[in-house]
Amino acid sequence: MTGDEGREKVRIGAIILESSLIGAPMAGYSDLAFRLLCREYGAGLGYSEMVSCHGLVRHQASTLELIRTVAAERPVIMQLFGAEPEVMGAAAAILSESPIDGIDINMGCPVKKVVKKGAGAALMRDPGRAAAVIKAVVGATPLPVTVKIRSGWNRQTINAPDFARMIADCGGAAVTIHARTWSAGFTGRADREVIAAVKAAVQIPVIGNGDVTSCQEARALMAVTGCDGVMIGRGSLGAPWVFSPDRPIIPNLATRRQAARRHLALIREHHPGHHPARICNQIGRYFKTVPSGADIRKTIYNLDNLSKLEHFLADYPDHHQIEAL
Ligand SMILES: Cc1cc2nc3c(=O)[nH]c(=O)nc-3n(C[C@H](O)[C@H](O)[C@H](O)COP(=O)(O)O)c2cc1C
Repeated sequence: MTGDEGREKVRIGAIILESSLIGAPMAGYSDLAFRLLCREYGAGLGYSEMVSCHGLVRHQASTLELIRTVAAERPVIMQLFGAEPEVMGAAAAILSESPIDGIDINMGCPVKKVVKKGAGAALMRDPGRAAAVIKAVVGATPLPVTVKIRSGWNRQTINAPDFARMIADCGGAAVTIHARTWSAGFTGRADREVIAAVKAAVQIPVIGNGDVTSCQEARALMAVTGCDGVMIGRGSLGAPWVFSPDRPIIPNLATRRQAARRHLALIREHHPGHHPARICNQIGRYFKTVPSGADIRKTIYNLDNLSKLEHFLADYPDHHQIEAL
């Protein structure tokens, strides 16, 4: 069982997805190691966190680190953010030289410093500029271009269906809709009706997003809204097995420890220079919602390097008979 029986495989340009469950772009989390981990657990596609078009055209080292990739994670889509069509086009041309499968444009980020510059969700208030940005990116790359949007700016100005039509008209290959408005931030519940309305508005694939924490919920979202795929963000943090409908994983302590150790091994391989606080934050998430999880996390947050963390994960469960739980 893949969870996709009877469904046509999602196609985004030349990408054919083996699973309709997709890893979300998440700044500070969806790095190469986490994307690889999610793919290993069954995600059909991964998205990089948002990458500044300015950082890319200036070849900033920190930006180039964000677009690092390896063949094993494909298919992968890298996400750009920015508001100037020329710079976005130039950045897309640079990105196209990487062995990736697509480019996404962020039109949903609510963060103040992004929106202040007219990028992210601000583009949903400026469809003319948004169209120019999409055309510039589409014109600069042979890769499929997807766009990630919100429902609209606020409850009074929900424009996702019209906006999605514009995206398709400009050559967009798929649209992801995080069904909340900019003003809602992350509050309230994602609005399934908006996802259904976007699906009804366009022929290109529609990826629904917001609050999904299991493959059952993902399937229900596809059934209710007709969306072609489901993107999972927060529900995958410390829980990459959410992408594994074909081999349900009971997230007991043993499987959590296993996933955490694999994640750590991928971090060791691909990001040995990551700040310990970032690594501890990612690894600590595997032990949320378990008995004695608070103690485990407290210990993890106090470990200040990769080796100590590796030893802790290797040794702790045996000493405390975690496997038996
Ligand atoms: C920590 C964090 C970082 C995020 N970074 C990005 C980002 O870089 N680009 C983007 O388009 N969305 C970003 N998002 C939004 C997610 O991709 C997703 O749309 C949102 O979390 C709703 O989905 P979920 O309920 O499955 O988490 C971020 C969300 C979180 C929680």
